[in-house]
This record gives sequence, structure tokens and C-alpha cells, in this order.
Amino acid sequence: MKALVLAGGTGSRLRPITHTAAKQLVPVANKPVLFYGIESIVEAGITDIGVVVGDTAAEIRAALGDGSRFGARVTYLPQERPLGLAHAVSVARDWLGEDDFVMYLGDNFIVGGITAFVEGFRAQRPDAGLLLTKVDDPRAFGVAELGPDGDVVRLEEKPSAPRSDLALVGVYFFTSAVHAAVAALTPSARGELEITDAIQGLIDAGRTIRATTITGYWKDTGNAHDMLEVNRSVLEGLERCVEGEVDDTSKIIGRVRIERGARIERSRIVGPAVIGAGTVVRDSRIGPSTSVAEDCTITGSEVESSIILRGAGIDRAGRIEDSLIGRSVQVTGVAEAPRGHRLVLGDHSRIHIAA
Ligand code: TTP
Repeated sequence: MKALVLAGGTGSRLRPITHTAAKQLVPVANKPVLFYGIESIVEAGITDIGVVVGDTAAEIRAALGDGSRFGARVTYLPQERPLGLAHAVSVARDWLGEDDFVMYLGDNFIVGGITAFVEGFRAQRPDAGLLLTKVDDPRAFGVAELGPDGDVVRLEEKPSAPRSDLALVGVYFFTSAVHAAVAALTPSARGELEITDAIQGLIDAGRTIRATTITGYWKDTGNAHDMLEVNRSVLEGLERCVEGEVDDTSKIIGRVRIERGARIERSRIVGPAVIGAGTVVRDSRIGPSTSVAEDCTITGSEVESSIILRGAGIDRAGRIEDSLIGRSVQVTGVAEAPRGHRLVLGDHSRIHIAA
């Protein structure tokens, strides 16, 4: 069995972060979200991994390399444009050959891994296998309708009147039967080749589609809010580990990881929180539920429930919460400011200012 990991796409919901970086590499507890997926695939015993890449190919390649650090063999499959999840399968057609495969959306996060689901698929070997989860508002998802025997009888992409509250999780199991269904697709209203349409094609052709409803935690980290929630959830499992320097006047409370080379001065870090290597925190309060990446400088500020990416600087900025701050961003408070905020923001930035 092979794995097909989708790490291309547009990432429009995570702009401006995705103007300059791959969304699959945004760190959760200081580890790229994509790594959690790759690790769970390898843990399930699958080591032959095809990674579909788009505009951010160079960055994804630099992060994953040949896969050996994960115990895997990674093959890169360039997709010239993000024309849909089913299009990504067609890009991988030759590499997949006649093998069964698990398709894993590179920005999805499943607590507990996928080993049990891989084993279930291998044991039953339906024509395709889906993972479903109950959601409050199915209208934002691909939604499955199940028949009396639990097989999938219909799929709809972002329906306005959902027939169930079971949304598709971004992990799919396929046999080579999917390729004919993909080949028969035409672009949807949004101009993409939809994997839900391919699966509907399999259903219409009388194929068996099994669904497993998962009860564990699943998130698509495609937008900032969900990314922060995944970060919160992953940090819950953190173990205390202080390898950086902490001065006598600082307090480290609870499950906090301070990486080697980080320095904490006259500050309070409330777990769960991670402070990356080379980061300096002075006269500040960090946490809970906060990940600060490497080489950041935080001075005279409070940061809670946030992800701060590499090289960012936060200086006398008051209190920052529920925020995703990009690489090398500078946030500076000015003591005697003229009335008015001075902003240099990238395209599609979103800020909420205390007005
Ligand atoms: P999505 O999050 O559905 O699509 P997107 O990346 O274009 O994001 P947005 O809606 O914010 O613009 O994609 C799920 C995963 O699949 C994600 O890791 C990107 C990847 N992907 C591809 O590799 N190729 C594609 O053609 C598409 C649509 C997505």
C-alpha cells in the first residue's frame, strides 16, 4: 500500500501566511503540521509516500527531503496548478500504478493516527474507504449519506441542505478502481476536479464504499482559527522540558518546553507553551496555549493562545491573543504614539485592533 500526501493547493484561507510559505509547514507546537501526518502514515506501516506539490514545492522538499528522517521514501509529484483533489490523484496516476493507497490531505490533523483505519481497510478491502466525523455545521464540508448497512450511498460537496451531519475527514482509502472514476470527471462549478465526484462515480458504478466514523479529534488546519485550535490541542499533550536558560526572576508554570538556546528573563511562562531555540523572552508573559518558534524576540508583552513563527519580534505590544504571526513579523508598541496605528501589512492580512 502507498500513501499520497497532498501538499500543494492555494491556501487562500490562510493568507497572508501562504503568500510566502506552505500552509502544510505552519508549525503546531513548533513542528510542521505536515510532519504529524507523515509520521502517522509511517506508523501505520506505509513507507512509500508520494507528495503532491505545487508552488511551494521547494519549501516542502527542503522540509521532507527524501523521507529518510521519517523512515520513509518520498517521491515528489508536481501538480502544475491546484485543480482539485481528484486532479492530484490523476497527477499521481503513473506513480500509484495498480496499488491501493491512502490519500492524506497535508493540512489535516488527526489525533491518534491512522493505523487502525489502515488495518481496517486492508482487512475489508472495499473499493474505497472514507473516514467521517460528526460536525455541527456540515455545510462547510463534503457530507456523506449512509445507507442502512452503513455503506456510503451519496456524497455532496458543501451542500446547502445537508442530508447528514457526517463530514468527510481528509483521509481516504482507494483501490485502483478510483482511477477510472477520476478519468471520467469534468470540472465542478468551482473549476476543480472533486474527489467527492469521483467517489460518487464509484457509488454510481455499484462499487462498495465503506465509511468509518471517527470519534477522536480531527481538524482541517486550512484557516487560522482551526490552526490555533489544533495548536491548543497538541500542546495539551506536552511534557515539561526546560533546556534553555531561565533567570532567577522568571517563573515557569506547568507543562512548558523551553528549547535549547532559548533565554527567559524576568518573565512568566504559563503552560502549555513552547519556546523555540534561540528565542529571547524579556519582561513578558507567555501562554497558555502558545507556541513561539525559533529566533523570536518578545519584550514587554503578553502572548496567549497564539502561534508565533520564526524570527518574529514583539516589543511592548500589550496583550496579543488568538493570533497567528508570520515569519519575521515585527509588532511594536509605541509609548507616546500619535493617534492612529502605523501598519505595514501584507496582502490579505487581517488584524483586530483595540480601537
Ligand atoms: P484545500 O484546503 O481544500 O485547498 P487549498 O489548499 O487550495 O486551500 P484554500 O481553500 O484555503 O484555498 O486542500 C486540502 C489539501 O490538499 C491541502 O494540503 C492542499 C492540497 N491540495 C493539493 O495538493 N492540490 C490541489 O489541487 C488542491 C485543491 C489541494
